[in-house]
Amino acid sequence: MDSLKPTIGIRGVVLLCIAVVIFSELLGLPILRRAIRPAPPPSNLVAAAAAPSLVAWNEATIVLSSTGNPVRGEFISRRCESCHGVEGFSSQASTPNLAGIDAQYLWKELQDFRSAKRKSVIMQQIAGALTSRDAADVAAYFAMLPNAPDAQFNPIFPQTLKDQSAIEIAQHLLAVGDPARGIPPCQACHGPLGNVRPAPSLASQNSDYVMSQLNDFASGARTNDVNLPMRTIAAELFPNERQALAEFYGADLARFPVGYVTQ
Ligand code: HEC
Ligand code: HEC
Repeated sequence: MDSLKPTIGIRGVVLLCIAVVIFSELLGLPILRRAIRPAPPPSNLVAAAAAPSLVAWNEATIVLSSTGNPVRGEFISRRCESCHGVEGFSSQASTPNLAGIDAQYLWKELQDFRSAKRKSVIMQQIAGALTSRDAADVAAYFAMLPNAPDAQFNPIFPQTLKDQSAIEIAQHLLAVGDPARGIPPCQACHGPLGNVRPAPSLASQNSDYVMSQLNDFASGARTNDVNLPMRTIAAELFPNERQALAEFYGADLARFPVGYVTQ
């Protein structure tokens, strides 16, 4: 009896499908093309791709980044000392010193490396292996270390000033900036006169590293400064001014507000 039941079989199903697709094409309602057209990305993903950083300062991120456990952080820092030094002072002037740098800034940079908002082949890998809690802990540890040079652990800081004329150029930019070009005084954000979250102290930073970051902000290779302060400022600085600023910071001359520095 079964064999008498009307049956269309597999071949029938396939032919039916082909017929439906052809009809839909003829009627201007393409099924296949519609199915493979990629869906537009959700608008929040578009916004995230354009944002300079995925870190937003709110209660949760401020609490997390400022309550790291430095004891746990010290263990994590063993992975960092080959480049950033045992006491947070690097043996290479092109690698940043981390000793005594504000924990919130360090945490933000680690998050930015993780999300590739800040590009660095080395640091993207290293930060990618940390959770945001690990990053807070290791940031708390480095922030706690003294940022005063200790000849035993940081033989290359401070660096010697190559050109004495750097002092005058840098002091003017630190204290006054250049209102005509819209450059505010560096020390208003980077200290010691004022501090703007998350602008780090530059007082114990290496000259080559400061130079490379100013160049990267100016060229757009580094774009993780929220609200663009550094991309705008660095692009306005002349190359000799960037050099003078880098040398001034690297020579440990910015520890006190400009005006107190003796030449
Ligand atoms: C193999 C070398 C190397 C190791 C290991 C390393 N770093 Fe780095 N780190 C660098 C270099 C080079 C840079 C500068 C990247 C750039 O040019 O932007 C950097 C930049 C950073 C910055 C940004 C500093 C600033 O002033 O903006 C932070 C924060 C940082 N590293 C934290 C860490 C931590 C935490 C560890 C260990 C878990 C670590 N690094 C391990 C080489 C290293
Ligand atoms: C309006 C505030 C502001 C002013 C003024 C300012 N900066 Fe910055 N700067 C920042 C902020 C914020 C960051 C951190 C960006 C980020 O989130 O990574 C920064 C980062 C930097 C860095 C990178 C630090 C590091 O460890 O990687 C350098 C170098 C720097 N600034 C130099 C300068 C110099 C030199 C001047 C003066 C000519 C200056 N800045 C003026 C806000 C400022």
